[in-house]
Amino acid sequence: MASFRLILVWSLSICFCLCPHTTSAQLRQNYYANVCPNVESIVRNAVRQKFQQTFVTVPGTLRLFFHDCFVQGCDASVIVASTANNKAEKDHPDNLSLAGDGFDTVIKAKAAVDAFPSCRNKVSCADILTMATRDVVALSGGPSYAVELGRLDGLSSTAASVNGRLPHPTDNLNQLNALFAANGLTQADMIALSAAHTVGFSHCDKFSSRIYNFSRGNTVDPTLNRNYATQLQGMCPRNVDPRIAINMDPNTPRTFDNMYYKNLQNGRGLFTSDQVLFTDPRSKPTVNAWASNSPAFQRAFVSAMTKLGRVGVKTGRNGNIRRDCGAFN
Ligand code: HEM
Repeated sequence: MASFRLILVWSLSICFCLCPHTTSAQLRQNYYANVCPNVESIVRNAVRQKFQQTFVTVPGTLRLFFHDCFVQGCDASVIVASTANNKAEKDHPDNLSLAGDGFDTVIKAKAAVDAFPSCRNKVSCADILTMATRDVVALSGGPSYAVELGRLDGLSSTAASVNGRLPHPTDNLNQLNALFAANGLTQADMIALSAAHTVGFSHCDKFSSRIYNFSRGNTVDPTLNRNYATQLQGMCPRNVDPRIAINMDPNTPRTFDNMYYKNLQNGRGLFTSDQVLFTDPRSKPTVNAWASNSPAFQRAFVSAMTKLGRVGVKTGRNGNIRRDCGAFN
């Protein structure tokens, strides 16, 4: 019995050391049941109101959650504004295209939560972002799912910490897999989460090399559908205004569906990092499976989002509950 206990303790401590990204012991559903029992409906109503004002709420919030979790964990550190002494995550080049409406969604939901005296300063910005993300996915036609809560807000946010942590649109499968694996996510999780590109916008500079100066032999990336390439050239002429952004899903840009995978099958993946999921034989079978089976995709997406929400969670002395999501207390 004693040796069994020893082995248990030993294996738990090995796991603790080897799997820092999967420790989610403190997260649970209904975490705020005692202090703020209606928090989920308060956030949902605030997000719905914001959604009625602009659709950008959906992609803005979803991408914000991803960029938050991949840099120092899901701790709302991406929302903190820079100060005279600190250049924050949000001002790193990889975050400059995050839509303002994502930040605004969290700020509005936080204000709605804090309007209830018992909830005031009891719910973390990191949890509000997690709930809001679940809500925008559902509002745009995607699956709804139970969220685990109990994250604290991070105590640091630096632009330098973003370096090398976020994927780039030119990445190949090995690069994507490596970045996701560093966060405890599998290739299947990565393919499921990439379907977030079924909603939202991209600025022309993010893919212009695919349609104008791909390689010496090919001006246009040969994995890109010819008609789609021509359409993209029409929407994004050379030297286009850098503020111009286009739909990433040319078919159902405002619906969270599995069209993303059907687009990839037709050479309509906007970035190299999208299209490679279909051209690389290691990921192609998964793309084909989810293109033809929406429920299977939705299950995989929910599972991957739940895992993403566990990355680098702050608890105890490693975090606190920010009074203002955009500034440290
Ligand atoms: C797999 C690697 C990924 C790469 C290389 C990538 C890259 C990009 C790029 C370059 C944009 C366009 C930004 C702009 O020009 O404004 C974008 C947009 C977006 N990404 Fe990703 N992304 C990846 C994965 C993800 C994941 C995992 C999610 C969420 C789960 C996500 C959600 C979004 C959303 C919703 C938008 C639209 C943003 C908007 O309309 O404001 N992306 N992504």
